[in-house]
Amino acid sequence: MFFVRRITLSPRLAATASLVVGGGTIVDVGTDHAYLPAHLILTKKISFAIASDVRQSPLDNARDTVVKYKLQEKIDLRLSDGLAEIKPEEVEEIVFAGMGGTLIAEKLKECSWVKSKKYHFIFQPQSKAEDLREFLYSNGFEINKELAVNEGDRYYITFDAYYTGEIKPFTLSDCFIGKLPDTVEAKAHLKMQLNRLEKKYNALKHREENLEDLEKLIDDLKGFVYG
Ligand SMILES: C[S@@+](CC[C@H](N)C(=O)[O-])C[C@H]1O[C@@H](n2cnc3c(N)ncnc32)[C@H](O)[C@@H]1O
Repeated sequence: MFFVRRITLSPRLAATASLVVGGGTIVDVGTDHAYLPAHLILTKKISFAIASDVRQSPLDNARDTVVKYKLQEKIDLRLSDGLAEIKPEEVEEIVFAGMGGTLIAEKLKECSWVKSKKYHFIFQPQSKAEDLREFLYSNGFEINKELAVNEGDRYYITFDAYYTGEIKPFTLSDCFIGKLPDTVEAKAHLKMQLNRLEKKYNALKHREENLEDLEKLIDDLKGFVYG
């Protein structure tokens, strides 16, 4: 029987995979089912990957995919908290997908070797992307390109970044908007953030608090979403 060795990714993971440059080795941190590295290998974008997860059961899911697609020689499965068990010379591209932005930032902070121009980073924060962007801006990383996609009833964002060592001034709005493109999907994603922040503003506005930063952020988000 003819067996098609291909994995069709969901729009969220397809957008993330599209940012991988390829050619080298990637580590997919928090891999779970390992669809992303398996897809990248089956499409010949990369020839080797480390698929890592902090828990054994997601790594067992990853093993199922590796065995199903006969990728035992091409994907190294590794139990690792963030990048703790990854050696700096093992990878060129580092992917964090499907984890919260705050957690991704924490895992980058814990790793002594990520501040290097050698690596290409691809992030797909499920939530709190603003925390991850703030970490990147404050630590000399530069965001290269952002994408927003629709999947089911949700809008997801993904972006890639490099370490430059240069720390430029940034605002709260930069942390929320980043380099998102002027698309329907990016506007829908930011509209959800805007709704949440407007609720927060309405809850706080009767208190004697300085809400200037929040007001400016809400104005900037309105400009992006409706402008
Ligand atoms: C929602 S799944 C995402 C799976 C896949 N990357 C994707 O985007 O579809 C999040 C995965 O991150 C893993 N994870 C959570 N904290 C982690 C950590 N500190 N280090 C590595 N993996 C972690 C979880 O075990 C889980 O398998």
